[in-house]
Amino acid sequence: MPTRMKGIILAGGAGTRLYPLTLVASKQLQPIYDKPMIYYPLTTLIENGVREICLISTPQDLPRYQRLFGGGDRWGLRFDYREQARPEGIAQAFQIADTFIGQDSATLILGDNVFYGSEKLKQTFDAFQTGASVFGYHVNDPRRYGVVEFDETGAAISIEEKPVRPRSNYAVPGLYLFDGQVVGIARNLKPSARGELEITDLITEYLNRGQLRVAKLERGFAWLDAGTSTSLHEASAYIQTIEKRQGIKIGCPEEAAYRRGFIDLAGLAKLATAMPRCEYRDYLEMVIAEGQAKTPPAAR
Ligand code: G1P
Repeated sequence: MPTRMKGIILAGGAGTRLYPLTLVASKQLQPIYDKPMIYYPLTTLIENGVREICLISTPQDLPRYQRLFGGGDRWGLRFDYREQARPEGIAQAFQIADTFIGQDSATLILGDNVFYGSEKLKQTFDAFQTGASVFGYHVNDPRRYGVVEFDETGAAISIEEKPVRPRSNYAVPGLYLFDGQVVGIARNLKPSARGELEITDLITEYLNRGQLRVAKLERGFAWLDAGTSTSLHEASAYIQTIEKRQGIKIGCPEEAAYRRGFIDLAGLAKLATAMPRCEYRDYLEMVIAEGQAKTPPAAR
């Protein structure tokens, strides 16, 4: 991975498909089982070594995220905040965040996408140098997504947004890695028929330049999106099942920041102590106790 990979979390949109839940809080602040939805994509960025993060949301919701995350230093992160005034497409995020990105590479994750369990993600982040890397995930109903078509050698040959007749069952999840060309490419995109700057058009430009890699995510890997009340409920049920069975938490940014070395045990303990007594704090205290058992007292 290049030394500086900036991260963008896009938490925009009106969340109309979740109405009336979204009367109370925006989509990405709804709970997936025991945490706000946004914790999951944030954790994915942290797990993959991204510490400079630009959060993009609507003018109404942005202050809520600012209250939630602040500057990010207690988690060893640096947060920037930008407004998306109108929902004019995912690729617009790269125009909005242009000065945040500068000449660096940038990864974008959608605020309602949950990823769990893949070495592939880690390998892709670690190996990333130039061009673009996206993922392909086999789904039952690809028409809801960006769809990638492969030739017989496994190379990607087309990407289409929500096709009526999908050319494959491989959806492109909402996690994308781009090199420093991304801002320039995003600036030249034209709105699609539905009036949005499409992420699939941006990816297609990298494909046309011969600089796109698509990594197929393996079976057993979980990619969930939580944009409808049914998928929100299913995501909660899935997370609860795994957490209960394994005694771990998915989407815990404090733990991820500690494991990635962004904060040390003392920093993690400080975070836990500031929390009310709850299951989440009990869990972090367990992580701390395990860490202490592994660390010689002098090094703590
Ligand atoms: C968006 C993208 C689509 C992608 C999907 C992943 O769709 O446009 O290419 O596959 O996210 O969640 P949306 O969720 O905005 O319908």
